[in-house]
Amino acid sequence: VLEEKDAVEAAPCPHAASRAHSLDAIPGPTNWPLVGSLVELLRKGGLTRQHEALVDYHKKFGKIFRMKLGSFESVHIGAPCLLEALYRKEGNYPQRLEIKPWKAYRDLRDEAYGLLILEGKDWQRVRSAFQQKLMKPTEVVKLDSKINQVLVDFVSRIGNINNNGKIEDLYFELNKWSFETICLVLYDKRFGLLQETVNEEAMNFITAVKTMMSTFGTMMVTPVELHKSLNTKTWQDHTAAWDRIFSTAKVYIDKKLKTNANRAPDDLIGDILHQSCLSKKELYAAITELQIGGVETTANSMLWAIFNLSRNPGAQRKLLNEIREVVPPDQDPCGEHIKSMPYLKACLKESMRLSPSVPFTSRTLDKDTVLGDYAIPKGTVLMINSHALGSNEKYFDEGKLFKPERWVRENSTINPFAYVPFGIGKRMCIGRRLAELQLQLAMCWLVRDFEIVATDNKPLDVIHSGLLVPNRELPVAFIRR
Ligand code: HEM
Repeated sequence: VLEEKDAVEAAPCPHAASRAHSLDAIPGPTNWPLVGSLVELLRKGGLTRQHEALVDYHKKFGKIFRMKLGSFESVHIGAPCLLEALYRKEGNYPQRLEIKPWKAYRDLRDEAYGLLILEGKDWQRVRSAFQQKLMKPTEVVKLDSKINQVLVDFVSRIGNINNNGKIEDLYFELNKWSFETICLVLYDKRFGLLQETVNEEAMNFITAVKTMMSTFGTMMVTPVELHKSLNTKTWQDHTAAWDRIFSTAKVYIDKKLKTNANRAPDDLIGDILHQSCLSKKELYAAITELQIGGVETTANSMLWAIFNLSRNPGAQRKLLNEIREVVPPDQDPCGEHIKSMPYLKACLKESMRLSPSVPFTSRTLDKDTVLGDYAIPKGTVLMINSHALGSNEKYFDEGKLFKPERWVRENSTINPFAYVPFGIGKRMCIGRRLAELQLQLAMCWLVRDFEIVATDNKPLDVIHSGLLVPNRELPVAFIRR
């Protein structure tokens, strides 16, 4: 995500076209009738390896290429210069690819859409109700004590449940941690997911989110209307999961709506609930989608940060030194400390560059747009590939290495448009600031209390399953310092 300042300081694009070519002139992989490049992609390892295939295509075709999978056509952009052009030409209501299964559920139950699926003026109205509080570092920093409340339990759990330092299903533990944190921030409610025995309500809630996420992918590639009319198991599971998510979220949002007086200074969500002009229905949908957007993404980024620190003991030692210098031994790390920890911020940035959780995001162009050498028509779907950008040696020297130092150099030449793990422009991730604070604090707490060691040095395969995930249990152990 680009901050206004970064974007203005970025170098002008040297490839602005004097006479742009048409969409048809954009290079790309084999485009067979009916299937397009599907067979070629399957030969390259299938959809779970698509992130690697896309990097290869960028290497082969350059900054921009065009690809068809069945009837779905998209244009992939993987160069800072093109992202900058897109950013500067962006309209007021940028659009992503539709998530039709989610819309189908809301239409069925007459519920509203949240930020992930809203479009146009309605999107802008809801976005601005949340933007002021959620994207302002001075507001988000007030959430540090809530974040820390959950971290106390998380760190103690890591100490208790480990077997010779190893944690069984670390990813699930991290998902519980991020779920617990976002629920505390949004609903002021502790669900107790990090306790030894988890209560039924909490388990049902987290399972519903898991089911909802695992059932919508199928309905993104096969018509949701068909699932709905045939009442397939996928559709039934999906709707039942949403029913559970909405009914639980509504209980806690209603509770917050009832208590208007004496809000705590860190109750950003309470302020939004009471001060915005959004309807109750809109608030239910918006808050629920904040929760959906914030759980696995944050857990996944933490997983990769843990992995990268385990494989880079030198960087971990340097980070520990910074933590010890800034955070007195009798104090807990807090938002104020983070302000004086450039190396911590650099470690997180480097981890998200090298191992982004969300490999790409999309835009559906709402007007004809010239990008580099090409005039791209309205309606075209663009894929913005943060994974391909972050792993490109052209934009990052020794790009395969974990080098946090690159972010703290005085005369850094990193193009801000080459680092976009939270997306770009007006529609970038609204939870970015919260996620960063949560991840930075978690890194502080973990590294201060544990040495994170690699238990093997074999390569770790990465697969695409919506997010980029390791294909095996993370080979790490937590050794108490
Ligand atoms: C959108 C990544 C955490 C809520 C996005 C997008 C990306 C992203 C790539 C698409 C942006 C675009 O299209 O330009 C991440 C990552 C996270 C994270 C990597 C953690 C490290 C969160 C959190 C929340 C959240 C904690 C909730 C508080 C959302 C929402 C949107 C979004 C609601 C849609 C925004 C809109 O369309 O207006 N996120 N996210 N995300 N994210 Fe996040």
